[in-house]
Amino acid sequence: MRDMLDAGQPYPLTAWAAQLDRIRVDLDNALRREEKVAVARRTPEQRRYLGNSLAQFWDAVDRMFALAKTGREADAREEIRLSLQARQAALSTAVARLLVENNESEEQTAVRVQEIYDRVQRQVYWFLTATLVAIALTSLYQIRSNRRLFARLHSLSAQRRELVQKLIAARESTLHHISRELHDEFGQILTAMGSMLGRAGKHAPEGSPLRAELREINELAQSTLTNVRSLSQALHPSILDEVGLEAALEWYLPTVEKQVGITVCYERSGHAAPVTGTAGIHVYRVVQEALNNVARHSGADRAWVRLRHETGGLDVEVEDHGNGFGPASGRGLGLVAMRERADILGGTIEFLTPANGGTLVRLTVPSESLKSEV
Ligand SMILES: Nc1ncnc2c1ncn2[C@@H]1O[C@H](COP(=O)(O)OP(=O)(O)OP(=O)(O)O)[C@@H](O)[C@H]1O
Ligand SMILES: [Mg+2]
Repeated sequence: MRDMLDAGQPYPLTAWAAQLDRIRVDLDNALRREEKVAVARRTPEQRRYLGNSLAQFWDAVDRMFALAKTGREADAREEIRLSLQARQAALSTAVARLLVENNESEEQTAVRVQEIYDRVQRQVYWFLTATLVAIALTSLYQIRSNRRLFARLHSLSAQRRELVQKLIAARESTLHHISRELHDEFGQILTAMGSMLGRAGKHAPEGSPLRAELREINELAQSTLTNVRSLSQALHPSILDEVGLEAALEWYLPTVEKQVGITVCYERSGHAAPVTGTAGIHVYRVVQEALNNVARHSGADRAWVRLRHETGGLDVEVEDHGNGFGPASGRGLGLVAMRERADILGGTIEFLTPANGGTLVRLTVPSESLKSEV
């Protein structure tokens, strides 16, 4: 408008019409967009006041251009000076007031947004705290009940171990007792019967049927005596108590070869005092069970038994090159009893696979257990 009022301008006033039309379109667009995104909500009076101010401004512009088009440049300039500039000032004041209100409501909105953020933040903290407390309480409860469970498991496992060890001890003492009774009582009776029958036979006439029958009965008594003795040895080898583990194994291995039909290679190394007493019977039973397992499960026809006296104690191995422990291995009591016997001896037992397949059972007994009664 300042340029339009400048009388020194070479252009007529109508030359500004296109520029003002562009401004009008831009301003309309801008107001429509502002209406959509405005933070502050305007009252209907405010909206009406702004609309009226704009309409009056553009009316004055139209009037001014109408005057200019009819060649009344001086009247048109007068219109600018008197009416248009005043309306533009009114419009600027209205816009400035709206801007101030915009700023205020933006500030209020920012405060409200901040309050919402603070509330959400507080709620998130509460939620997190409640979740953490719940997790901590659940974990504590879990830890306590797991501890109780483990303590119960531990005591049950100790009770089971004690029971199994007592069962093993009871079995051994029963077998020992029966074996001794068979050997001593029945053995003595059968021996006495044998010598009485021998004496009675001598009194019978030579070649008589009575003498032949007495000899037959004597032979029967002798074979029963042999059977009773071997049954007594099988239940509890007395040789173990008298001479020791090595002698018992030397007697047992050929017997087992005959009984189950496998070849047993026996190797022995190192020197030490003979192993007798309860330690001897536990080692003997481990070898017995391992060889029974070779015969029953391995499918091999040969086994190796090794007895090594080391400085720290005794190493006993039973090896076969058969099927080995498969995934379908059954659940018997043999391995459990072997483990318990190793435990009673204070030693260890391992079930290994040799390089060329099969099974290797290795029992290690510390030397203190071999000396004392366990
Ligand atoms: N030398 C072996 N070769 C292959 N498999 C074996 C051998 N020793 C044991 N096993 C496997 O391990 C399983 C468990 O053996 P364990 O001695 O405990 O039980 P069992 O011999 O089946 O029965 P039990 O000894 O109580 O009469 C067996 O069923 C068998 O499958
Ligand atoms: Mg077995």
